[in-house]
Amino acid sequence: MALLEVKNLQVSFDTPEGEVHAVSGVDFTLEPGDALAIVGESGSGKTQSMLAILGLLAENGRATGSARFRGEDLMEMGPAELNHHRGKDIAMIFQDPMTSLNPYLTIDSQMTEMVMHHQGLNRREARAHAVEMLRAVRIPDPEQRIRQYPHQYSGGMRQRVLVAMGLLCEPDILIADEPTTALDVTVQAQIAQLMAELRRQSNTAIVLITHDLGVVAGLCDRVLVLYAGEVVEYGTVEQIYYDPQHPYTQGLLESVPRLDRVGDGQLHAIPGNPPNLLNLPKGCCFRRRCERAFEQCHQKPRLRDTGQGHLNRCHLGDTE
Ligand SMILES: Nc1ncnc2c1ncn2[C@@H]1O[C@H](COP(=O)(O)OP(=O)(O)OP(=O)(O)O)[C@@H](O)[C@H]1O
Ligand code: SF4
Ligand SMILES: [Mg+2]
Repeated sequence: MALLEVKNLQVSFDTPEGEVHAVSGVDFTLEPGDALAIVGESGSGKTQSMLAILGLLAENGRATGSARFRGEDLMEMGPAELNHHRGKDIAMIFQDPMTSLNPYLTIDSQMTEMVMHHQGLNRREARAHAVEMLRAVRIPDPEQRIRQYPHQYSGGMRQRVLVAMGLLCEPDILIADEPTTALDVTVQAQIAQLMAELRRQSNTAIVLITHDLGVVAGLCDRVLVLYAGEVVEYGTVEQIYYDPQHPYTQGLLESVPRLDRVGDGQLHAIPGNPPNLLNLPKGCCFRRRCERAFEQCHQKPRLRDTGQGHLNRCHLGDTE
């Protein structure tokens, strides 16, 4: 039985303008110790697919499909049962550190309460554990700093506090949503390093959500590329980096600086914008931005295995 098996996940939102199709069929499986990257431009459905699994969609959101955690479907669970799994079995580090920390509570109370709730430790033990976690994410002087409020931490430090909170209950799965605020590259690298350590030590499965294929290679072993709420390519890091098949993935890779690539030294962003999720185009969602589009692209391409589990949703090379 897989640790987490997500099948045909769909998310939509009711809005005054109509139905927004944010996620249109996402599948993936995680085993203990796996590290999966979910990559795609802004608005591709990365965050909403994870929130759907955890039962945290906004009120106007609806999700269908299944997400089996050790065989039990999270999407069929009521709020109390889900609450039991969140934090303890599956933890998520949210994109915006300021909205996921309570500004009116010290870091101490936020961390300690969580450990007491999930692990049944008393306050003193819970605090000691929280301090240890802050130390693990390299917060200097954690015994003192734990008494402070979120605004007394810098952006990078707050992000580390969130990582510490994510690790607090030693979850089986840690989902890390890349921060929108531009943290400096060193902080990001340190956080990726921490997650890699955790994975080695505790066999925690990791889902890393990011725009940037550049940060993926060191931490993850598989990559899921999302475009307009659909999986367009999926494979191992090697398959995606050395043999990208979907024109969108190829475009994303061209916008990543790489030391091993000779060229004009320019980064190429993909021209154009993703489609309107209120009114998705027929056929391939990437068609209007694709330099290689041809007649057949007016039909929806299937997600097919091109060999060794490397999946591609594109008509190019599809002989069937
Ligand atoms: N409550 C909501 N009502 C309507 N649309 C929503 C709502 N929440 C999210 N969306 C839409 O769902 C789509 C997917 O959003 P999502 O947050 O998953 O994107 P993302 O891939 O995480 O992007 P980013 O990289 O910018 O964080 C977006 O177009 C967003 O505007
Ligand atoms: S199916 Fe057609 S439009 Fe879509 S990515 Fe492939 S070639 Fe481009
Ligand atoms: Mg997001």
